[in-house]
Amino acid sequence: MHIEAKELGKTYGEGEAAVCAVKPCTFALESGEQWAVTGPSGSGKSTLLHLLGGLDRPTRGQVLCDGRDIFSQNDSRLADFRLRHVGFVFQSYHLLPELTAYENILLPCLLKGEKADKHHLDHICDRLNLLDRLQHLPSQLSGGQQQRVAIARALANRPQILLCDEPTGNLDSQNSENVVALLKDMAAELRLTLVVVTHDRDIASQYARVLTARDGVVGGDV
Ligand SMILES: Nc1ncnc2c1ncn2[C@@H]1O[C@H](COP(=O)(O)OP(=O)(O)O)[C@@H](O)[C@H]1O
Ligand SMILES: [Mg+2]
Repeated sequence: MHIEAKELGKTYGEGEAAVCAVKPCTFALESGEQWAVTGPSGSGKSTLLHLLGGLDRPTRGQVLCDGRDIFSQNDSRLADFRLRHVGFVFQSYHLLPELTAYENILLPCLLKGEKADKHHLDHICDRLNLLDRLQHLPSQLSGGQQQRVAIARALANRPQILLCDEPTGNLDSQNSENVVALLKDMAAELRLTLVVVTHDRDIASQYARVLTARDGVVGGDV
């Protein structure tokens, strides 16, 4: 999916207490491109990612997905847009502890209210090397395994956009490399537009396209 930010900005709070987390920025991510967003802590990376995926509303500007202004929709339609078109992966996995790995992966399909595509789920679980871990609870899995379950869940509904916020932030270097490689391969295979937020320069340098955030100023591809 083609994603375009137009004069997109977000300020938290008002008056004296206002924090401009993302200053108005304009850029385009072509369908199927893989981008890193990098910059120091507090520079606005997470805020930008949330805006691109419709998790949070901007205070100015627009996000156009395949030409459609996602924030012109009401909250319930925006939630439906996210469920169908956007996958999110977070640093701390956000798995439901009382559900098995497979039940966690199935959850977006259940929320969508349509029959799960079992063939697709089996394929992504195989690609993510999870087939022998599906009946385990998250507490019975390593960090790397939990993040792979979270990636499978993000891919379950066949999104066209995959947004990841510090996906390797809690992982050791070997699991980090593994997750970075899997995200790259899965995004290429499923032709997703991939955006990976990372403060790790080594990881960012592996992406052909990089957005840099600094004090809320988002700069392009340098
Ligand atoms: N919900 C919020 N309310 C108020 N300020 C926030 C909120 N979320 C983030 N901020 C502020 O916005 C700025 C950018 O934060 P964030 O996008 O989380 O940066 P990063 O992900 O690069 O660490 C920071 O100054 C942060 O304190
Ligand atoms: Mg952040």
